[in-house]
Amino acid sequence: MTKKETALFQSRLARHLDELRWLYMELYDNGDMFAELCDNLYQFASARPAALKKRDLEREADPEWYKSNDLTGMMLYIDNFAGNLNGVREKLPYIEKTGVNLLHLMPFLDTVPGRSDGGYAVADFRSVRPDLGAMEDLEQLAEACHKKGVNLCMDFVMNHTSQDHIWAKKARAGNGEYMSRYFFFADPAIPQEYEKTVPQAFPTTAPGNFTWLEDCQHWVMTSFYPYQWDLNYRNPRVFNEMMYNFLFLANKGMDMIRIDAVPYIWKELGTDCRNLPQVHTIVRMMRMIGEIVCPSVILLGEVVMEPVKVAPYFGTVEKPECHLLYNVTTMCTTWHTVATRDARLLRKQLDIVNTLPKQYVFLNYLRCHDDIGWGLDYDTLAQWGVSEVPHKKFLSDWFCGRYPGSVSRGELYNADPASGDARQCGTTASLCGIEKAGFEGDADAMERAVRFDLTLHAMMMMQTGIPLLYSGDELAQVNDYSYKDDPDKAQDSRYLHRGRLRWDLAERVSDLSTPEGQVFTGLKALGKLRRANPAFGAAADVWTLDTGDDGVLAIGRYWAGQKLIGVFNFTPEGKTVTLPHDPGAFTDLLSGEKHILQNLQLPAYGFFYLEQSCCFFDAFRVQRGEKLYN
Ligand code: GLC
Repeated sequence: MTKKETALFQSRLARHLDELRWLYMELYDNGDMFAELCDNLYQFASARPAALKKRDLEREADPEWYKSNDLTGMMLYIDNFAGNLNGVREKLPYIEKTGVNLLHLMPFLDTVPGRSDGGYAVADFRSVRPDLGAMEDLEQLAEACHKKGVNLCMDFVMNHTSQDHIWAKKARAGNGEYMSRYFFFADPAIPQEYEKTVPQAFPTTAPGNFTWLEDCQHWVMTSFYPYQWDLNYRNPRVFNEMMYNFLFLANKGMDMIRIDAVPYIWKELGTDCRNLPQVHTIVRMMRMIGEIVCPSVILLGEVVMEPVKVAPYFGTVEKPECHLLYNVTTMCTTWHTVATRDARLLRKQLDIVNTLPKQYVFLNYLRCHDDIGWGLDYDTLAQWGVSEVPHKKFLSDWFCGRYPGSVSRGELYNADPASGDARQCGTTASLCGIEKAGFEGDADAMERAVRFDLTLHAMMMMQTGIPLLYSGDELAQVNDYSYKDDPDKAQDSRYLHRGRLRWDLAERVSDLSTPEGQVFTGLKALGKLRRANPAFGAAADVWTLDTGDDGVLAIGRYWAGQKLIGVFNFTPEGKTVTLPHDPGAFTDLLSGEKHILQNLQLPAYGFFYLEQSCCFFDAFRVQRGEKLYN
């Protein structure tokens, strides 16, 4: 490193050193390992390519870059999308055409077919799955993305390694040093104790939290699949080495790193082994390590938990942890609203999110590669006479298309006949009725389904944070049932929505008579409006409005003289609603038509994005710090 670069590194380190040392010692009480960590931070900072060092400086100067309203994300599987990493690079013009400027590449590190959990069982953190390419291809892709203004995100699977990882192989061979990187027990007593308090991630597809290894006569902890061995973060060697892997990957050109299954990383007998305080210590240390070595890289936490457990992963303003978190409760509450046609719970959930500090930024989404888990606010539902078990059964029936009136086509995931509990799979298009309408050749039903698909996306994009599309959703792609013919996938219904991208559909996006053309064009228009209107930004005030109709949700946003009102009809009937407060005419951002908020007529499953520039008096009140709307 040049003198100047070394000085910069030193100043970044100095900013965090006290706290980092304190937390490290609290957890590990090991000065030698801490010294080794610091030395490696310097090594990774030196090895960082010049272009990324430049990016670090730019983003340090603009630390809020990920909060702006001009980001739209998309997550995709490299092989399903374009065969391999070079294929993705060649398809960047398509990505640009969708308006997406943040790409989340689903796991692509080396893994063993048949024991991969969709790539979440990593056999080598330093090499790419051979059929997808090589590390150099990743670097080239990152470079090409950056040239086009596209940010790149990858997963860092830190809770476990594959049983095919070199550490696991050595542990299995009886090497004590490596056994101590996992949770090994010769006697079943402790595993049995754990089982008393630890819930199961995959109760049907991979029951239990331990796996018996016949060859080495030990139990090993496996919270997910039996071939995913939980790492033991009590061992400072695990923490240090995993941080080196994290920095190695960051140096390949990542802008965002998704920390997978992060609530699980610390285990303590007698607890549920989720969200323990040490998890936060580790995430906080990761945040500081990132800021010291690669400050342009931000952390996205995968915390699929109830809201009270999610928000702490942002940390505090002085001691932040993750930059971004998934808005998981809003996502599943949205689907609950689809089935019940009752937006009250969704409104309540949005009210909670809207009162969180503005520093908190969420990744908003409708669908991802995983199932939809029904982590709803059952206490509130109980007050409305809805109880958890029958409600989950209703949701399962609804989204599998078994309930009268449902047009959804989905499948259950990890259905547990004993408890009646189940989660849900399927693409947005199939869950909205596009699959059924297409199969039946019903043009009216198709029109409604496409409208609903766009309404749900418009609602998602109206929320503060980064909207994330799931690859294929931009083409209204329906479920892919071919996974049932593949013995490696057949047991895992999440593959229902992990099909290959239908490039034949992509060729028809200019044809507005097709569902793919309508959805593609519609989403593109929404993205454009989001980028063009500052009131979609993270600094805006956001609130929900009373529509007088439980089937219709309304969201308001205000920023710097611009007011936006989104109105979303979750029902199959046209609705007439009157919204409170706002006098004067609003402009429909999509059609340019003028509307007033009295007797506003919404089509079945339709929505409006309405805009009004604020009068001088309102702007004055806002300047004085008054809140205009509740
Ligand atoms: C995360 C991933 C999921 C995977 C699990 C285990 O929840 O999203 O796909 O199965 O972690 O790594």
